[in-house]
Amino acid sequence: MQLNQRGHTELLRQADQAVGVAAETAKLDPHRLRYHIMAQANWINDPNGLIQFNGEYHVFYQHHPYSAEWGPMHWGHMKSEDLVNWQHLPIALAPNQAYDKDGCFSGSAVEHDGKLYLIYTGHVDDHSPKEVQCVAVSEDGVHFEKFEGNPVVAAPPVDGSEDFRDPKVWKHEDKWYMVVGTGKDRVGKAVLYSSADLLDWKYEGVMAESNGSQGVMWECPDLFKLGAHHVLICSPMEMEDAKTLYIVGDLSYKSKRFTQKHYQELDLGLDFYAPQTFQDDKGRRILIGWMDMWGGEIPTQSYQWAGAMTLPRELKLLDDGRMSQTPVEELKKLRRKKYQFEDLLVKEGEASYLSDIKGETLEIIVTFDLSKSESTAFGLKLRCSDDGSEETLVFYDKVEKEVVVNRSKGGKGPQASCKAKVVASNDEITLHVFLDTSSVEVFSDGGRIAMSNRIYPDPDSRGVDVFADNGFALVKGLMVYPLN
Ligand code: FRU
Repeated sequence: MQLNQRGHTELLRQADQAVGVAAETAKLDPHRLRYHIMAQANWINDPNGLIQFNGEYHVFYQHHPYSAEWGPMHWGHMKSEDLVNWQHLPIALAPNQAYDKDGCFSGSAVEHDGKLYLIYTGHVDDHSPKEVQCVAVSEDGVHFEKFEGNPVVAAPPVDGSEDFRDPKVWKHEDKWYMVVGTGKDRVGKAVLYSSADLLDWKYEGVMAESNGSQGVMWECPDLFKLGAHHVLICSPMEMEDAKTLYIVGDLSYKSKRFTQKHYQELDLGLDFYAPQTFQDDKGRRILIGWMDMWGGEIPTQSYQWAGAMTLPRELKLLDDGRMSQTPVEELKKLRRKKYQFEDLLVKEGEASYLSDIKGETLEIIVTFDLSKSESTAFGLKLRCSDDGSEETLVFYDKVEKEVVVNRSKGGKGPQASCKAKVVASNDEITLHVFLDTSSVEVFSDGGRIAMSNRIYPDPDSRGVDVFADNGFALVKGLMVYPLN
């Protein structure tokens, strides 16, 4: 295979240097996250190329190394031995070819013949074709060279359009498959290709498409087996009430078609988009998403950085046909202390149940007994200021049967709230919360609910409390772990 490295090494060096300079400013920001994946500085969006290679976990990401705004996309790179402690690596891809000169857009990674292959979208503005699929290869998992024969898919298929991006590749039996996001006539689609060698691709047709209400173009499709079925994830553009979907169904490798059974929004937080999954050597299906959103205000830009990833989550298919998301168990390593409470009766209007606990990096697991809670809304107050002017609420609305995250008094940044319906009928509700310096991720309803939000409180707003509106609520159990 002929590889092409002309000028690439020098561009990568310049990009790393620019990030190094901006990092001096970024590190002064009190909102730099402590245990989430971020670049050292400047802009990042989608996670790309998630893979375990030679025993180590790799995460690449969409990266603009020259400013804290989106720009010509590079691929940033980090690795980890345990999904908890991450190490920065040199930037892996820079746009430098006729077919990717305006950006190395999102894509995926696979191992083939002991080498690490990146399959990504080359993007060129005001050009036809605007988006093509490309390959880059590495022997050591750090230094990548672009394939001389790029692009490996040089034009969109008849069923697609100019928006033709974000290849996700996997192996089934002895063949490689690639799903690419596109849309035609305002119908979002995932189109399928197959290959024996990752270089020569055969078009197999439309694997799945919008049912009419699932958006006009499907960004970042991902397809994988989960339990007895398959799951297709995509981030549809212009879908009315969802940003990222998971669709449970079945893929027939014979007909090359995916049939939909159930779909819903994957994460109901305000800051979640373009996730990707991979399978690790323990057989787990792990998902990481971009923990921000297009168009949102990002206050950290004034410190020369923008964007982060969610915590890695393990996915499972439940008996009711829905997917559960659980933060990977390795995250328990971050716990450095434990506060525990049982049978705590929380009354309306009373406060300071947890006055000993303060912090901006906490894991909290609280379970309320619903049969012994008369209150209409009860839960947690996080990142509270002493004067009560700042707080982020995570609570259960018992009337609407919804988990709510309300950051309207959360500090800087867009002030809004979001909610998710609880579907399991249970006589208790558990809220599992990960709080970092500028994020809050909430899991509930047996993993059926995940909500990711960025928040930008004053660094001094560090209080935590439990609360109940209109009556009392019984906390069956509460654990708070300050995190490293
Ligand atoms: C999704 C996305 C992808 C594209 C990338 C560009 O957030 O728009 O479709 O490849 O970002 O950075």
